[in-house]
Amino acid sequence: MAQFESLIWIIPNILVIVSIGSCIACGRAEYRIGDECCPMCSPGNRVHKHCTEFTSTSCVPCVDSTFLDEPNGLMKCAPCSSCDSGLGLRVKLSGFTMPEPRSRQPCKPESDDFCRPLEGFFCLLSNKDGCRIAQKHSSCKPGQYIRHTGTTSTDTVCSNCTGDTYSDGSFTACQSHTGCESLGLQEMKPGSPWSDSECGPQLSHSTARSSAVASMTVILAGAVYILVI
Ligand SMILES: *[C@@H]1O[C@H](CO)[C@@H](O)[C@H](O)[C@H]1NC(C)=O
Repeated sequence: MAQFESLIWIIPNILVIVSIGSCIACGRAEYRIGDECCPMCSPGNRVHKHCTEFTSTSCVPCVDSTFLDEPNGLMKCAPCSSCDSGLGLRVKLSGFTMPEPRSRQPCKPESDDFCRPLEGFFCLLSNKDGCRIAQKHSSCKPGQYIRHTGTTSTDTVCSNCTGDTYSDGSFTACQSHTGCESLGLQEMKPGSPWSDSECGPQLSHSTARSSAVASMTVILAGAVYILVI
C-alpha cells in the first residue's frame, strides 16, 4: 500500500521532469511548435509550413515591404516602418561619409528601413536598423541660453543667465545688460535675466537750463514780492 502511494507521487513528478526536459531541448536555432523542435527560418524569411517528424521547416521570403531581421519561427513578416515623420523620422541616406550618396537605403526582406531623425530632432530609441523614434529638440526658456545645441543623438542643453546678463532663450551665450549710464543715458527699466535694460534720453541740457531758469524766476519773483511787501 505504501509502495503504491509513493508510485502515485513519483509518476507525476517524472512526467514534470520529462516535460521540462523536452522544453529546454530545442536548440538556439530552433523553435517549439507542439512537441516538435523546428529549425528557424533565416533573416529575410518567414515560416510557410512548420516542420513535422518527417519534414524540415518550409520557409518563404518576406515580400511587399515587410521584413524579419532575425532567425525566426514566425508565420508573418513585420511591415517596414518607412521612417514615419510622425515619429520624427526620415529615411537615412546610405553611407556615413561625405558627400552623402543620393540613393536611399530602403527596407529589405532582412532589414527595416534605415531611418534617421528629422532636422531639429534627436534619436530616443535606435537599433541596428537606425533610429526608431525621435523627438524634437527642446527649446530654452527666456532667461536661459543654449549651452549645447541639440544633435541627432542629444537634446538641447539650457543654462540660466546669471548676474547682469540676459537671453531670450535663443542665444548661445548670455548678453550683458546695456549700461545706460555709461552711454550717457537714463535707465528707464532695469534689465532682467530674460530682457535687456531699457535706456531713455537723459534730461537734455536745454531742458535742464530752462528748468533752472524757471526755478530762478520763481525765486526772483518771490524775493521781489517779499521786498515789495
Ligand atoms: C534656473 O532658473 C529657474 C527659474 O528662474 C529655476 O527654477 C531653476 O532652478 C534654475 N536652475 C538652475 C540650475 O539654477
